[in-house]
Amino acid sequence: MFPVISDPIMTRRSFVAGSSSFLAAALLSTSRLAGAVTSSAKFDAYPFSLGVASGDPAPDSVVLWTRLAPRALEPGGGMPPESFEVSWQIAEDEGMARVVRSGTAVANPQWGHSVHVEAEGLQPARWYWYQFKVSGHISPKGRTRTLPPAGSTPDRLRFVFASCQHYEAGLYTAFEHLAREDVDLIVHLGDYIYEGAARDNPLRCHNSGETFTLHDYRARYALYKSDPALQAAHAMAPWIVTWDDHEVMNNYAGDIPGRPATREDFLLRRAAGYQAYFEHMPLRRSALPKGPDMLLYRKLEFGRLASFHVLDTRQYRTDQPQDDGTKPFHPVLLDPKGTLLGAQQRDWLFQGLEKSPATWNVLAQQVMMARVDRVPGPGEAYSMDQWPGYEFERRRVLRHFMDRKIKNPVVLTGDIHTNYANDLVTDFDDLGSQRVGVEFVGTSISSGGDGSIEPPRLTDILAENPFVKYRNNERGYVRCEVTPGQWKADYRTVPYVTRPGAPITTRGSWVTAAGRNQLERA
Ligand SMILES: [Fe+2]
Repeated sequence: MFPVISDPIMTRRSFVAGSSSFLAAALLSTSRLAGAVTSSAKFDAYPFSLGVASGDPAPDSVVLWTRLAPRALEPGGGMPPESFEVSWQIAEDEGMARVVRSGTAVANPQWGHSVHVEAEGLQPARWYWYQFKVSGHISPKGRTRTLPPAGSTPDRLRFVFASCQHYEAGLYTAFEHLAREDVDLIVHLGDYIYEGAARDNPLRCHNSGETFTLHDYRARYALYKSDPALQAAHAMAPWIVTWDDHEVMNNYAGDIPGRPATREDFLLRRAAGYQAYFEHMPLRRSALPKGPDMLLYRKLEFGRLASFHVLDTRQYRTDQPQDDGTKPFHPVLLDPKGTLLGAQQRDWLFQGLEKSPATWNVLAQQVMMARVDRVPGPGEAYSMDQWPGYEFERRRVLRHFMDRKIKNPVVLTGDIHTNYANDLVTDFDDLGSQRVGVEFVGTSISSGGDGSIEPPRLTDILAENPFVKYRNNERGYVRCEVTPGQWKADYRTVPYVTRPGAPITTRGSWVTAAGRNQLERA
């Protein structure tokens, strides 16, 4: 869709011709060359090999991203340890003739030669196209879109959400299809990379041992981002991203690693993982990591139609109770000190929900909120890594939905490589209790490899958990169409990912009407 540019001369001409302000910006950058910033380096390979991206749109601005990496899989991306000046421009048309903003940014080695531009002064609710330029090389073109004006009442939002893209487990065929969807934005719920060592894998392999250092994580992102389908998905619309565990390490909790290590060693690793995440995502300066800390939770408003509370359920959580795993209920789950969000994020979420003017209040987050019992019959067992492992706080969130009459909460979830559609009730032991929201759990892009339409033990899980309305075990993503009266979720799936060319199908469609908090088959 946005191939690497094959005719640099034509492209360069159209880039320059489209913008007198670009020339002014180039002159300005030359006059700033007194410092250690270079703008005329020769690259021995195309420096935009990892593509472009945009994200965190606002009504008047959006983040534009790229990273200079002429030999992406080599140390430092094949870049010398110097800073480079990169020009950018954003236009109202795909031909880049009507440039509305342009400027320069510095790509420095301390941040992996990544570029994060906050393009401002844009018009709300419209498409834009953007490109970068360095030393005569022009980046692929990206398309992005601003949010509707604050306080407006848009009549429709279309977006997709996705997660879990283990590179070795499968091809990104789902991203090929996703890149052709007609949507305003894309939400990614984490497991953008996996940290594991390369396996002897017939399909495709990781490029190192397990990732621990900044260098390791950078190389891992470069590998994932070298996939053309992922690049195409980034280039077609703005992304709103959050992480789960594998961006650092499987099932870590706050400052506690998923496998034994000293706290100090783990925090060094977390700092490396967080920095590499920031470097490779279209995030705002407000998310810039400081050592092992990074502020990722934030709110985006699609007018008064939908508010997105983007959550971080990894950085602030307490340790998984009962030694993680899938365990029966135990009174320790009701310990008020157990938390997935941390007090500060929880207060911010609760206040944000109370004040929200939106018809639909979205929690874009990682782990399943419905309390799904995985044991058929009288026994019970719940995932200690998901919300049921933090039962006190889970009940508190659902109680908040009810007590404060939060309008139409919709929880979006990734993590478990399975599609689910769940009604959310205040008391999962009493299905007559009040319905307070719905949850859409999206499957993986590739993690888990080829799936199946019916997951193992489908009938057991449905019989055991009547609030689970739908379950499916194929790979794919979820496409949502949101109007003031209804939320519709289409579970878009591909039948296989271990060979190319899988077609896309809408395997299930579920709707909830505004004010109902109840799922029905579409
Ligand atoms: Fe995952």
